[in-house]
Amino acid sequence: MENFQFMLLVLLVIFIFCDQIIVHSQVSFEYVRPPPRSIIATPDDHPESHPQQVHVSLVGRDHMRVSWVTDDKDVSPKVEYGKIPGKYEVSVTGEHTSYRYFFYKSGKIHHVKIGPLESDVTYYYRCGGVGKEFSFRTPPLSFPIEFAVADYDVLLLPGDLSYADTQQPLWDTFGRFVEPYASRRPWMVTQGNHEVEAFPVIHTHPFVAYNSRWLMPFEESGSNSNLYYSFDVTGVHVIMLGSYADFDAGSAQYKWLVADLARVNREKTPWLVVLLHAPWYNTNTAHQGEGESMRKAMEHLLYNARVDLVFAGHVHSYERFTRVFDNEPNSCGPVHVTIGDGGNREGLAMMFKKPTPPISLFHEASFGHGRLRVLNQTHAHWSWHRNDDYDSTVGDEIWLESLSSIQQCKETLQDREQPKSSNFEL
Ligand SMILES: *[C@@H]1O[C@H](CO)[C@@H](O)[C@H](O)[C@H]1NC(C)=O
Repeated sequence: MENFQFMLLVLLVIFIFCDQIIVHSQVSFEYVRPPPRSIIATPDDHPESHPQQVHVSLVGRDHMRVSWVTDDKDVSPKVEYGKIPGKYEVSVTGEHTSYRYFFYKSGKIHHVKIGPLESDVTYYYRCGGVGKEFSFRTPPLSFPIEFAVADYDVLLLPGDLSYADTQQPLWDTFGRFVEPYASRRPWMVTQGNHEVEAFPVIHTHPFVAYNSRWLMPFEESGSNSNLYYSFDVTGVHVIMLGSYADFDAGSAQYKWLVADLARVNREKTPWLVVLLHAPWYNTNTAHQGEGESMRKAMEHLLYNARVDLVFAGHVHSYERFTRVFDNEPNSCGPVHVTIGDGGNREGLAMMFKKPTPPISLFHEASFGHGRLRVLNQTHAHWSWHRNDDYDSTVGDEIWLESLSSIQQCKETLQDREQPKSSNFEL
């Protein structure tokens, strides 16, 4: 793996529902966010058969899923694609679904898995045989390449997508709003509390819109639920956990996680990254303790597997912890990052506990997005970019070394082959 160079960027986009917000810096400098732009409308002016809300997601090593919605029920779930604009060598027919939510009936939701695809190549595609051409670039296998700040390979989003909160047409507005980005690079998402959309008795089934619209490669990763899954991309194994699915020992998610971690080969994927919605570590006063039962149930699994990074959302601010396990600094534990500051309509979570516990290294209540550049099998660079509406500034950054390359952590990793109690200490 001499020349094993790769790059994966994590971006959390700014959503549109920002109210009038003034940001008070929690750290050493004063940052005042300019007033937000007005809400961006995404009118549904497509002809009924034309694709809208187009987004792509990774499926396995060399496939991509193209998803879109049409108002016309007769359009077939067909994607034509090729490497030259307008020349489609391959045509694939996939599946479709739709759902009802009280008086709302969704359009026809199409999901088509295409491939095998080559790495680091731009493909041009058309959905349903009509409408405009889209393109995406597949993630690289290996490369020395310069990326602009606005460019990235894969987007990872730890939950809270449309903020529809039961108002189904907002899912469509959101889909149209993100299409220019989500049709060009894979968007890999996990669920947040704003996607649950269940009511006792009258609508008991949760995540109907989310699961219908944002189909992720759960079957391909041996999971029985779209709410938790994993995938490999360019030397990184990414695990998406479900904060709103059962997670106790004995639950399907727990058993799946044990099996998935056992399959990870750190020679092939030296980096191990986990995303979930409700943070396990959080010194903000908002949502205190909400991730605690999941942490108690699952933290030892991630620790024993030497997970490098855990990203969470939920709390509308940014916070980075030191490597940690069971509330103590631990050089073989993951770095926990809360990046719930992609934007929302509720405003920022401004209050942090005082004094700051020593495991919390940086926090700031500003909107922003993060970027993870995995340069090779040992080094990655994480940066957090505070957004204002015109440009973004690096607010926090750190170099990370993969735990798979740190001898002390590797040794205990090998010990893990023997059964261990969950209270295993270094
Ligand atoms: C990995 O990248 C880091 C940072 O650029 C560099 O210092 C290191 O030498 C690289 N390691 C390998 C094996 O290429």
